[in-house]
Amino acid sequence: MTQTITIPRPDDWHLHLRDGEMLRAVLPETARHFARAIIMPNLVPPVVTGDDAAAYRDRILAALPKGMSFEPLMTLYLTETTDPDDVARAASSGLIKALKLYPAGATTNSASGVNDFDKVRPVLERMAEIGLPLCVHGEVTDPDIDIFDREAVFIDRVLDPIRRATPALKVIMEHITTSQAADYVKAGDANLAATITTHHLIINRNHILVGGIKPHYYCLPVAKREEHRLALRAAATSGDARFFLGTDSAPHLDAAKQTDCGCAGCFTATNTMSILAQVFEDDGRLENLEGFASRNGPAFYGLAVNKTQMTLSKSSPPQYPSKIATPDGDITVFDPGFALRWQVEN
Ligand code: DOR
Ligand code: ZN
Repeated sequence: MTQTITIPRPDDWHLHLRDGEMLRAVLPETARHFARAIIMPNLVPPVVTGDDAAAYRDRILAALPKGMSFEPLMTLYLTETTDPDDVARAASSGLIKALKLYPAGATTNSASGVNDFDKVRPVLERMAEIGLPLCVHGEVTDPDIDIFDREAVFIDRVLDPIRRATPALKVIMEHITTSQAADYVKAGDANLAATITTHHLIINRNHILVGGIKPHYYCLPVAKREEHRLALRAAATSGDARFFLGTDSAPHLDAAKQTDCGCAGCFTATNTMSILAQVFEDDGRLENLEGFASRNGPAFYGLAVNKTQMTLSKSSPPQYPSKIATPDGDITVFDPGFALRWQVEN
């Protein structure tokens, strides 16, 4: 039985770092294990211009503890007034690596997102021209559509039309939660990929709702039926290069989750790599962890694989805190519900 594995240092292709005290509290949790991460722009107010992204990148780097290295890969929040020239400038300088599309109202801090997809057409065309990827939160917001169907409906109503109109646009369907999304990506061309979170490989909707409501398992898109979780595990562990890790680690203070209208988000930065090693091992695909966490993401984004490495071993079970403290209160670390075996050695 394998006791140790060494892989190129992983990256997180979808991460929420927030700002201020929260940023300072959560950044080390990611930087300890990940070399780079695609940084979500859904701050209040959102990161919409190249100048906003440069200032946010500087705040992230200033919050990085001495001795840690980490490269934030910045994104802009796509709005109906985004200027294609500003996007092209920020991309050509190397500052940004993607734009993020939130349908207006789909999730946390998405009020500035897109209502009318025709209005962002010029930006999407310019992105296709310059090869800048679009990260997509794939859920419709129509109140008539059941929350468990919102991803599948988004593919038909929004995503597929965008891809047909702009076939050269590189699209990442983020945090996919359904077999429909996994199948759509598998049927797609080289311009389509998907990220999968750690938590969606572990929980289905029963984990949220059976035996009492579990606010720390509530995120968006919400976890679906077991058959969908199994489809995601199959996709993630398959070795198919179109699927890669985007944790969507999304810190909220416990007080904001354990309340009448709790925020969406699972905080998985701390223990993701130990959980993933176990998932891949349990599915008999440990050899594909490297592709999922370290190689497929950079390949899609056209970036180099990290030269540094990470070793995980089963010599002693890992110890992770159950909470991360901030001056304003605690953040609960995602509980996979089973004892972890794989320790991150470096
Ligand atoms: O669960 C989520 N939390 N899903 C999102 O799309 C946003 C994120 C957040 O920012 O908290
Ligand atoms: Zn997210």
